[in-house]
Amino acid sequence: MTNQIPEITLHDGLQIPSVGFGTYKLKGESGAQAINHAITNGYRLLDSAYNYENEATVGEAIRRSSVPREELLVTSKLPGRYHHYDDAIVTIQESLLRANLDYYDLYLIHWPNPIQDNYVEAWQALIDAKKFGYIRSIGVCNFLPEHLERLQKETGILPTVNQIELHPLFNQEEQLKFHEEHHIATESWSPLSRASDLLQDETLQKIADQHNRTISQIILRWHYQLGTIAIPKSATPSRQKENISIFDFELSKEEMTIINSLSKQDGRLKDQDPAVYEEF
Ligand SMILES: NC(=O)c1ccc[n+]([C@@H]2O[C@H](COP(=O)([O-])OP(=O)(O)OC[C@H]3O[C@@H](n4cnc5c(N)ncnc54)[C@H](OP(=O)(O)O)[C@@H]3O)[C@@H](O)[C@H]2O)c1
Repeated sequence: MTNQIPEITLHDGLQIPSVGFGTYKLKGESGAQAINHAITNGYRLLDSAYNYENEATVGEAIRRSSVPREELLVTSKLPGRYHHYDDAIVTIQESLLRANLDYYDLYLIHWPNPIQDNYVEAWQALIDAKKFGYIRSIGVCNFLPEHLERLQKETGILPTVNQIELHPLFNQEEQLKFHEEHHIATESWSPLSRASDLLQDETLQKIADQHNRTISQIILRWHYQLGTIAIPKSATPSRQKENISIFDFELSKEEMTIINSLSKQDGRLKDQDPAVYEEF
């Protein structure tokens, strides 16, 4: 199967697919096989992280694939414990060595950790790592508008991407507006709300029945129509295919509104508010 996923253009010109593949918990031999299946099934954007301890697994899946490296977009992320400049540069080098890659397409700061407050220094390291050729495009995860504004003020450079928790239970309306105004692309993590009860929701089932689709496909189509890049994870090849078979139907305005109405102020899956939550 060839890649049928439409692309979007980041503010630095890099084109990336509008649906990617999450790899959290995909590790070891079974992980390499699952990621390899995902590539065969048509995924080109792979999302990994230093803290997932699977950069080597992602690299191995890429080497086993018949898809050339340059057709894939590989992401990793800088952990909170390495926000100091020198640590960040070495960590990016280590990420490359673990994956056995010459470059990452996208490298993100994993969490802002505002209490620790070293994220501007980490951002400066990503800016330089891009100049060194380690990374093609630089972004962040879980940054609130105040953190993004500070990056702009202190370095003059805004991330191309902010990867945030986003699913129908937590639709991040205000944050999305801020991203749009600043030309920052939104990636949605846990786009299927980590297979919570949402996948049995009656309202979503009605919409799914109307379109002869699964609830997962309805949710992923909702992400696409919001303009966000969902990165669903699945170890199951049939679900991997299902999750990218969303480009031949459309949700109506009314259906988008119904899905948005499922969102709540406290709809986060866990209590991970980036203003106070820190991850190392
Ligand atoms: N930046 C951050 O701070 C951050 C935080 C969390 C996650 N992430 C990234 O976001 C990615 C996705 O988020 P996630 O893994 O938390 O959750 P998710 O993608 O919302 O959900 C994954 C779960 O949904 C199941 N699933 C997938 N497709 C399905 C389908 N069509 N029907 C039924 N069940 C389905 C999977 O099961 P099977 O695998 O068994 O098929 C798995 O249990 C992660 O893998 C990671 O790369 C980033």
